[in-house]
Amino acid sequence: MCGIVGYVGEKNAQDFLVSGLKRLEYRGYDSAGIVTLGADGEATLVRAKGKISNLEEKLAGAKRNDTIGIGHTRWATHGEPSERNAHPHQAGPIYLVHNGIIENYKELKKALKDFDFKSETDSEVLAALIESFYGEGKYPLANAVVQALKLVKGTYGIAVVSVLKPDEIVVARSGSPLVIGIGHDETLIASDASALLGHTKQAIYLNDGEVATVTEKSVEIKTLNAEPVSAKVEEIETNLAAIQKGGYEHFLLKEIMEQPDSLTETLRGRMNLEDGVVHLGGPGLSEAELRKIKHLVIVGCGTAYHAGLLAGYYIEKFTPEITVEAVIASEYRYRQAYIPEDSVALIVSQSGETADTLACLREIKKQGVKTIGIVNAIGSTIAREVDGGTYVHVGPEISVASTKAFTSQVIAMVMFGLTIAQAKGVKSGILKPYVSEIARMPEEIRKVLDEVRGEVEKIAGKYTKYEHGIYLGRDVAYPTAMEGALKLKEISYVDANAYAFGELKHGPLALIDDRFFEMALLPDGELYDKAVSNVQEVLARGGHIIAATNVDKFDLPVETVVKITTDIELFAPILMNLVSQLFAYYMTIAKGYDVDQPRNLAKSVTVE
Ligand code: F6R
Repeated sequence: MCGIVGYVGEKNAQDFLVSGLKRLEYRGYDSAGIVTLGADGEATLVRAKGKISNLEEKLAGAKRNDTIGIGHTRWATHGEPSERNAHPHQAGPIYLVHNGIIENYKELKKALKDFDFKSETDSEVLAALIESFYGEGKYPLANAVVQALKLVKGTYGIAVVSVLKPDEIVVARSGSPLVIGIGHDETLIASDASALLGHTKQAIYLNDGEVATVTEKSVEIKTLNAEPVSAKVEEIETNLAAIQKGGYEHFLLKEIMEQPDSLTETLRGRMNLEDGVVHLGGPGLSEAELRKIKHLVIVGCGTAYHAGLLAGYYIEKFTPEITVEAVIASEYRYRQAYIPEDSVALIVSQSGETADTLACLREIKKQGVKTIGIVNAIGSTIAREVDGGTYVHVGPEISVASTKAFTSQVIAMVMFGLTIAQAKGVKSGILKPYVSEIARMPEEIRKVLDEVRGEVEKIAGKYTKYEHGIYLGRDVAYPTAMEGALKLKEISYVDANAYAFGELKHGPLALIDDRFFEMALLPDGELYDKAVSNVQEVLARGGHIIAATNVDKFDLPVETVVKITTDIELFAPILMNLVSQLFAYYMTIAKGYDVDQPRNLAKSVTVE
């Protein structure tokens, strides 16, 4: 979603702003812009629709040596993607960049009737509002910002500069992240710490309701009620290599291929193979509290929701007297659902900033239910607001489509389920197979990726002619099929949906014809024979089936088989999901689309 950068120091601000915006490209955007201020009070504003390369072309004719400025990548919400709607927005001497949504912008705009609005955005209204309190520089910029923000309903992360004071940036946040990087004779601003790497590792994460005035050598933070805040400087944990492609052509392929390592990081220090016991410190629940749990609500969006669904299937299998409900955050936040006593909520989010998931977290906390984060981004809002949590530690996920996070989210949640089962006294004979398979998963993932990558590449090229994909699975393979379908549609733009095999006869079977292919996930196990009958039903209607299976003697006459050689049984669907991930990747390559930044999507969805 939108990105913010800012610079005040001794170096060329344009250089940092452009390189910082490039780091944030992965979040998804449709236009970009920067403004820098000269000591002479002159502002240089450059904005462009489309890629940052368009902005760079324009900047070539507007080079400046200014040492302060702010920049933005915009993902359109109010008003089409265009130069006019791109940030920064100007209001008199003020320039503003904004992430989030000003919900009451129409009322505010009405009240600002003398202002000559140039864009259709809610953000320009905020710029105009700040200017109305600025009194042409009579009042400090931070005061004007605070006055304006007190009238605003909605979410924001903002950075504001004024040509009348070209040595300070005012930043504020409510619901949209902002990080202040502390460098040598320079202070940097970003909505995502990855933009700061290579410049500094020291950062202050602003909290909701805080406003900071930032200069080359100082950071002064206050709450909206003018109470001073003592800033906590933290070390940014990510390193530069983690946000580079590392020899791969695309981040997506890199992230798919690094799953053996990212899952190893998820497991590190959290299990003891000798006694078959899982140790998760983060949730912070005592044995007695774990024993009491009867219900888990798992909240997430998109891939995180699928991870929750899949983990729920597993947890219910080995934990007695527990029910698990995985819910879509954007629905759940308005459902006014009653959460039974002795429940714990798992809040699942790669970015830790997803607006709907965050809103659910806050609603659930109001009910007094314990919340546990299953989060990747360290220090993110969700990670900070949950009662306890388990970081998945997969490192930055740059490609918009989530892959390595999914695998680790599922396993991290299953491990949480195992800690509950352990506390409830479930026999180790029941739990040990799960623990030992989890421990072997990184290596098995490595083997399967090596085994199927080339083959899936060939297959994907052949399947580009189909307009629709149907992903099918039973039991644990069903949520896995949902995740596979999501991956395909979001990057290759091929319409894809998932069905539980048993549902076919209740409607979807009518779809089968030559416009469709079917991806059947067929793990060996108890329900395999039932799934085989369903495959036969599809075959009888002329289906074009790709079967992903670990069944040794697979002999169904399907069009294509992707065979997985593994002795993993319980978690075989996660290995099959690697096939779906690679299939979506190579299908997208074959179609010639942008793999890492699919159209219309953003990596971190910080608006509702
Ligand atoms: C799909 C995808 C999205 C995210 C969803 C939640 O590949 O990436 O569906 O999973 O937007 O994002 P987080 O996990 O950051 O809350």
